[in-house]
Amino acid sequence: MHILITGGAGFIGTHLTRRLLARGDTVSILDNLSTGNLDNIREFTGHPLYSFAIDTLDNPLVLDRLASQADAIFHLAAAVGVQLVVERPTETIETNVLGTHAVLRAARRYRCRTIIASTSEVYGKGIKIPFSEEDDLLLGSSARSRWSYAASKLLDEFLGLAAYREFGLPVTIVRFFNTVGPGQTGRYGMVVPRFVRQAIHGEPITVYGDGEQSRCFCHVQDTVRALEFLLDRPDSTVGEIYNIGTNHEVTINELAHEVIARSASSSSLRHVPYSEAYAPGFEDMRRRVPDITKIRQAVGWQPSRTLNEILDDVITYERQRLDSVAVA
Ligand SMILES: NC(=O)c1ccc[n+]([C@@H]2O[C@H](COP(=O)([O-])OP(=O)(O)OC[C@H]3O[C@@H](n4cnc5c(N)ncnc54)[C@H](O)[C@@H]3O)[C@@H](O)[C@H]2O)c1
Repeated sequence: MHILITGGAGFIGTHLTRRLLARGDTVSILDNLSTGNLDNIREFTGHPLYSFAIDTLDNPLVLDRLASQADAIFHLAAAVGVQLVVERPTETIETNVLGTHAVLRAARRYRCRTIIASTSEVYGKGIKIPFSEEDDLLLGSSARSRWSYAASKLLDEFLGLAAYREFGLPVTIVRFFNTVGPGQTGRYGMVVPRFVRQAIHGEPITVYGDGEQSRCFCHVQDTVRALEFLLDRPDSTVGEIYNIGTNHEVTINELAHEVIARSASSSSLRHVPYSEAYAPGFEDMRRRVPDITKIRQAVGWQPSRTLNEILDDVITYERQRLDSVAVA
């Protein structure tokens, strides 16, 4: 199969590219390197089944050419990361909404199977735990720019499902919960790589708020396996929304202590108010737990890696990265 991955030089896109190439698919990626980078994709250079275009989603000629060659599109490109979203809300809204609109237009021309990345953020301040795909969604006020990420992704979902219903485009929506693993950048507020880097350097681990908010962390390789299952089963999964994540819940304080223990670090915790970390009035969710019954029943997927395995992988990766920087 020939597959186009938008955002293919990003964190999830790189792992997905590796997996699809390994099973013999042809992969093209489109990425503007805004949060992705060339180091992520260097290993694929010269692979006979791989090509990449450094360009943005709003170049219609490039998008059209890539879609015309593709059987399927994974649309992962987006403005990602709470920090980026708070700092540059206009870019977030435009990239996510207009970018998805452009991808769907191109997909419609060539009838591409399209899988669109959404996020657990769309559940917003929902209190019914775990979150399942049919739940009502409770977003905060538009006066708080952090909700622009969730709102823009929600509009992406509506656009994708509308293309399915109106034009029969085979679209599937995936709502990723916290996805972590080797290669994720800590620059845009992603908690696991940030904690691991702080621990390795023996710096204080900066925990936002009281640290009693909880999250569920899924290994990116489990996530990519879910995407592969969905790609291979269009018959039963088009027109549907699926949560992808684990339901093993951990507080951010527990996560920080686990990172310290597994990296044998001497770091301690430093709690930082949200208003200092992001912006005055920043709202966070206390809990975010996915119900993954739907994807399990549809394609037989469930995550297999534990939090300790995830942390060990990230610690090993970050240590190797540090060593290679030191050598260079
Ligand atoms: N990682 C997570 O925990 C998580 C959670 C929920 C949702 N998601 C979603 O999954 C997708 C992938 O996330 P990720 O963690 O790999 O993030 P990432 O930032 O590593 O990847 C996004 C990629 O999109 C590219 N990009 C951004 N704007 C672009 C544009 N206009 N044109 C072309 N390329 C552009 C970036 O350069 C980057 O390589 C995103 O849609 C994100 O919203 C991720």
